[in-house]
Amino acid sequence: MAPSLEYVIDLARKAGEILRQGFTEPHQIEYKGINDIVTEADRQSESCILGQIRGDFPQHTIVSEESGLLSGTDHDAWYIDPLDGTTNFAHGVPIYSVSIAYARNGRLVLGVVYDPMQNECFSAELGKGAWLNGKPIRVSQETDLNKSLLVTGFPASIRTSRVTNLDHFAWFSLHSMAVRRLGSAALDLVYVGAGRMDGYWETSIHSWDIAAGTLIVQEAGGLVTNLEGDPDFFKPPYNLIAATPGIHHFIVEGLNRK
Ligand code: IPD
Ligand code: CA
Ligand code: CA
Repeated sequence: MAPSLEYVIDLARKAGEILRQGFTEPHQIEYKGINDIVTEADRQSESCILGQIRGDFPQHTIVSEESGLLSGTDHDAWYIDPLDGTTNFAHGVPIYSVSIAYARNGRLVLGVVYDPMQNECFSAELGKGAWLNGKPIRVSQETDLNKSLLVTGFPASIRTSRVTNLDHFAWFSLHSMAVRRLGSAALDLVYVGAGRMDGYWETSIHSWDIAAGTLIVQEAGGLVTNLEGDPDFFKPPYNLIAATPGIHHFIVEGLNRK
């Protein structure tokens, strides 16, 4: 049995409400790495989502940030980030989201990203469209890189890896209107889908960060590829460009400039 989009929306809203209520409480912060934290809210949101999916769809495979892989059938897989934007959340910055996607036979078919602070629920269903609180969304019509508003993120390994993204951040800052760093990859993506941002790129991200958001961008008319412009992006190392078609090729060129 497969879930409906309404089922996933209800689940994301329920988990988002847990986050919203916990936002102003004191947080228990644990370090998973130097720049990588987890709070009690990540775990509470995840246990709400996993409890419901495992009760309703006990055979399904689930990939969720804090619990890892829960193996099930090959046909049905869920990709869950129970709190995307933990660093913002832990510091009292109200930019974070819940991201839930469902894939059937290896294809992403349902995606929901919920922002509890704005009560904005972004959703998409393969071949049917993308919506914000039930109203259709489209990517922007921008075609001029100089006028574009871009968004990116930096890897948690920025202090120890040679790949920092700082060179690309500097280059695009000099060739676009501005480059933002919101701190929630799922929101970065759905803002592209809603036409608020014109393009996004990030390297070494995870399946749970991008599964729902990439479907939303595609269903809103955007292009999603790896850094070379290849549409086969949903596999390690999860390097990603998501943009409106008029800007996508500029980001490919900018990231691959010699
Ligand atoms: C992080 C956010 C951030 C991105 C990082 C992610 P988390 O997710 O999406 O924007 O730059 O790569 O790990 O840890 O807050 O769920
Ligand atoms: Ca995340
Ligand atoms: Ca997370």
